[in-house]
Amino acid sequence: MLVLGIESSCDETAAALVQDGHTVLSNVVASQVKTHREFGGVVPELASREHLRNIGYVVRKALRDAGKDHDDIDGIAVTQGPGLIGSLLVGVSYAKAMAFSIKKPLVPVNHIEGHIFSAFLEHPDIRYPLLALVVSGGHTSLIYSPKLGAYESIGRARDDAAGEALDKLSKFLGLGYPGGPIIDQLSKRGDARRFSFSIPKISDGSLDFSFSGFKTAALRYIQQAGIQPRCPRAKVAKIVLDLVSSYQQAIVETLLRQTQKAASRLRPPSILLVGGVACNSLLRQTFKREFEPDTRENDTRVRVYFPSPVLTTDNAAMIAAAGTPKLCRNPRTDLRLNAWADLRLC
Ligand code: KG4
Ligand code: ZN
Repeated sequence: MLVLGIESSCDETAAALVQDGHTVLSNVVASQVKTHREFGGVVPELASREHLRNIGYVVRKALRDAGKDHDDIDGIAVTQGPGLIGSLLVGVSYAKAMAFSIKKPLVPVNHIEGHIFSAFLEHPDIRYPLLALVVSGGHTSLIYSPKLGAYESIGRARDDAAGEALDKLSKFLGLGYPGGPIIDQLSKRGDARRFSFSIPKISDGSLDFSFSGFKTAALRYIQQAGIQPRCPRAKVAKIVLDLVSSYQQAIVETLLRQTQKAASRLRPPSILLVGGVACNSLLRQTFKREFEPDTRENDTRVRVYFPSPVLTTDNAAMIAAAGTPKLCRNPRTDLRLNAWADLRLC
């Protein structure tokens, strides 16, 4: 089954062709980073306009790169939500018009489910039940999936998402946008023990996350030390390297602790680390080290899966992958399909 995926939930216009739910034939992403950089964050109005400008080209390129034609496609999968409504509408409207004109079925996909499926693209052998930590600019969630298509939310961000917390500190310090990958790189040169961030204890035993306390603590350190936002192209001071490194460490530690708690309650064979923040090198290393200790003789040990970076940040291959079982089950087109900014997975 050959599926065209279309994704436009935030600031990436993407299209991909995926065969049988796991073989990526093409994966095209038009990033809007340059447009939003000067504002230090995504400007929704500009994002919608860029999507409109790019979507036709991106879909045509995905077909061309895969050496396929409209007639070769068995169906289309499009991100329905959650995301920015103006951005989502561009992808959904385009997908509906295309499905109608080429007479192919169309299924809606939840963006979070797409991130979960991103792990299957390179690891079709992942075993259920699974525990997924979805960490991105807009979401921090722990999701338990006992079987294909069934999801239970067991923990979520009570305030800022992990990516948002990284992006905001970077903006405040004048380090650049998006902050996650910049802080990832700078942290390698900093001392993560220099600043202490106390990890909130959520006393009701819940598996929720809270990162806003770290932001408040970081702002206090910045004020106390008189740190000024960096001038463009200036060298990053040692104290700033230590601060971002300590801050990143606290975020990773929080993500690890809650996932460990969930894993010890649910004992899943597979843990998935997905969403843009799952590109983070410290997070990847930490999860591998903590969940996959070297016990080779023990076949029942848990395995941690994360996609390669290009499939970790927003892309349409993950949307095609998540849409494939839906198209197999119910290959029809509902032209009343609408975008939904707050769409929930569970
Ligand atoms: O999944 P994604 O591409 O878009 C959303 O659905 O939000 O995630 C974007 C987020 C941004 O907050 C970005 O700073 C973060 O992922 N990110 C990273 C890294 N690469 C991207 N955060 C930490 N370390 C990275 N290497
Ligand atoms: Zn995403």
